[in-house]
Amino acid sequence: MAITEVNLWFAAGVLFAVYLATTIVYRLYFHPLAKFPGPTLAAITDYWELYQDFFREEGGHLYLELDKLHEKYGPVVRIRPNEVHVKDSHWMDVLYPGSLERRDRDPLVGTAIGTPYATIGTGPHALHRIRKAAIAPFFSSRSVAEMEEMLQDRASIFCQTLENQISKVLDMRVFFFAWTTDFITGQIFGNSAGVFWDGERAHNYFDIMFDFSGKFPLTKHFPWLVTMGLALPLAAWKILFPSLVPYVSIYKDLLDRAQNACIAHTDKSNVNPKDGKEDIFETILTSDLPPEEKTPKRMANEVFNLLVAGSLTTAKTATYGIFHVLANPDIYERARAELKEAIPDNKSMPSLKTLQKLPVLTAIIKETNRLGCVVTTRFPMISPNKDLQHGETAIPAGSSISMTYCKAGMDPSIFAEPNEFRPDRWIAGEQKPHDYDHYVLPFGRGSRVCIGAHLAYAQLYLLLAYAFRFFDMELYDTTRERDIDIKGGGPLGEPTRSTKGVRVRVKGVVA
Ligand code: HEM
Repeated sequence: MAITEVNLWFAAGVLFAVYLATTIVYRLYFHPLAKFPGPTLAAITDYWELYQDFFREEGGHLYLELDKLHEKYGPVVRIRPNEVHVKDSHWMDVLYPGSLERRDRDPLVGTAIGTPYATIGTGPHALHRIRKAAIAPFFSSRSVAEMEEMLQDRASIFCQTLENQISKVLDMRVFFFAWTTDFITGQIFGNSAGVFWDGERAHNYFDIMFDFSGKFPLTKHFPWLVTMGLALPLAAWKILFPSLVPYVSIYKDLLDRAQNACIAHTDKSNVNPKDGKEDIFETILTSDLPPEEKTPKRMANEVFNLLVAGSLTTAKTATYGIFHVLANPDIYERARAELKEAIPDNKSMPSLKTLQKLPVLTAIIKETNRLGCVVTTRFPMISPNKDLQHGETAIPAGSSISMTYCKAGMDPSIFAEPNEFRPDRWIAGEQKPHDYDHYVLPFGRGSRVCIGAHLAYAQLYLLLAYAFRFFDMELYDTTRERDIDIKGGGPLGEPTRSTKGVRVRVKGVVA
């Protein structure tokens, strides 16, 4: 019989069907995670997650679904063919230990963000360690202490700008984001993006970042979209996907900057842009990393991640802080009274150390981090050589295991009425059945913990202290249900799509 085109297609179809059937049977009955409970579709295909996060309701649905899954199946649930999710606030230290114990990261984290070569998405434990060591000193507690003058200057600009907004309604998500963007760009490049406060530019830039994070579920499951996309010239993007042009432009700009930094470094003609201090590229180029870690592409990945991680997160936390305090007038009054005493006038601003000792402000920031824990995505880890024991259950070596940092802070067995914003739970004198600090993990835990925590805290203390101290503010058509509570989102939780932002009217200045 002659081999016709129809026969070839038929044979290919049969082969594909056999492949699918054997994959399904293997994943359901013979896979090392086959005995773990969970939805059947989740055990069969990664695309179950894509359905939850991209196509179901408003997107980002898996985060909301996790509690229901744990109620139904128990503390360890299979949520992808090779991933189990664990819900047990006391087990965080097992999954996220210090750097002496080996944990690799599931490579899907890097591909989702579109920056597989950045520290955050680095798979192998040893490679992660050296990448992190090269950038962490830039944001260490010592470096942040050295930044204090600059932080205070920027905080004054924040106040002056807010003064110009009297009687206007501001979306604080965008206002804070513009400020943190200018700060982080100034810090890592030596000159800031200049979006604070240019309302239109700030809104545009915010929309780009927001839109980009909404694409994570797609890039996670189709990483070639990023690779192929970045290889295309901008002109092609303008025709094919005009809405993504701004995002690609940012990445390409970083690539150019990284290339220029390499040339300047080789020429030894690098002009330090920050009064003798290095920018982030120079920090990487002069680090102990081997040459293959100093390529423009790798550095652009790293810096892109720093731009996103160092702006949206802190801005979102500050926004939650403003909302919860303004929504609770008694707390607002107590914060103002405390700050009025600590900062009698605007002529001499207190140091960060002084602000960090204020009990009400500190309790507000801790409670905001607990309730408003902004990073809702999972960060799956792999223990490559050793099974991890959860109670009686051994989770096999090589499996992807995830937990959701935010869930510990919302655990009702640790925090009574977790959904309530109650800073008093942090204030000395209140009975604490647990070491609360141990269970609030906005910055993650263990070897992968955020490198920007010191900077973020410094910014939160300054922005919130000065906003509460020097301005009389009120919420404007903003509700917790519509504009704050998480209903999905990308890596950072988002409220419903009908949100109008977290809007505040600045009524006046307080002397
Ligand atoms: C309130 C603000 C912030 C929050 C809530 C936050 C949260 C987080 C979380 C949850 C992680 C992941 C931990 C893990 O991988 O398991 C992370 C990692 C990271 N963050 Fe932040 N972050 C904040 C601010 C910043 C800032 C200001 C910077 C930069 C200056 C930054 C840079 C990074 C980097 C580079 C990583 C990767 C660390 C690693 O892989 O070891 N973050 N952050």
